[in-house]
Amino acid sequence: MTLSELYTPKQQEVLRYAFNHDYFMLINHGAKRTGKTVIDNDLFLYELKCVKRIATNEGVENPQYILAGANLGNLAKNVLIELTNKYGINFHMDKYNRFKLFGVLVVCTGHSKINDLSRIRGMTAYGAYINEDSLANEEVFNEIKSRCSANGARILIDTSPDQPERWLKRDYIDNPDKSIVDFHFVLDDNTFLNKRYRENIKATTPSGMFYDRDINGLWCAAEGVVYKDFNKDIHYISNLS
Ligand SMILES: Nc1ncnc2c1ncn2[C@@H]1O[C@H](COP(=O)(O)OP(=O)(O)OP(=O)(O)O)[C@@H](O)[C@H]1O
Ligand SMILES: [Mg+2]
Repeated sequence: MTLSELYTPKQQEVLRYAFNHDYFMLINHGAKRTGKTVIDNDLFLYELKCVKRIATNEGVENPQYILAGANLGNLAKNVLIELTNKYGINFHMDKYNRFKLFGVLVVCTGHSKINDLSRIRGMTAYGAYINEDSLANEEVFNEIKSRCSANGARILIDTSPDQPERWLKRDYIDNPDKSIVDFHFVLDDNTFLNKRYRENIKATTPSGMFYDRDINGLWCAAEGVVYKDFNKDIHYISNLS
């Protein structure tokens, strides 16, 4: 099978970038059902192999990697079960929700609750994969980022769009720093979805915010006449006490 039979053109673009460049964060964002997680799941396996190579060169026997989802149930559903179905990999979780794959110790954690911080505090990671970042707590995200201090550590992220002021958009996607690369997915990018599904979803999605987010994958705010002239710098009250 060739690459073009295995992946959508957009996914191939992501792969070409990831295989040929170094980066600190690779962010796949956009509409639902567009192939963001499928490509990150495959890149996750690729990253584990890279990590093992780097760690072996450094004489580190047990490199650690962070695998984060909104919670452990989501992680199993979106990442682990998908990889088992696709490649037949069996994940043997220990009592600390860790498993070993390709010689790397993968530490699984949730990222949506502040309590999730304690799972990873203090560790040194050779990389991280953050699934569904739209549900992530910013402090947990920052902690994951800080943990990725080992040589060559990189972070894979996938997310659906939210409001444009969200921190992932404002501080990372819109950040011109070259160490952060982002790929924007729209519904029509997923050439594996049949045309009927795509047409039906388009026809039944109301125009405005839902269409812009779910079909075009845009970071847009909910519309509303009341808030039309809202300016966060003027109207936002940060502390009412
Ligand atoms: N390379 C591929 N080969 C075969 N099927 C694919 C491929 N990429 C995506 N798909 C199909 O498209 C569906 C959506 O892909 P994926 O779960 O990666 O989307 P997503 O962008 O993460 O969606 P969501 O925002 O809903 O999480 C998958 O269920 C899968 O069936
Ligand atoms: Mg997904």
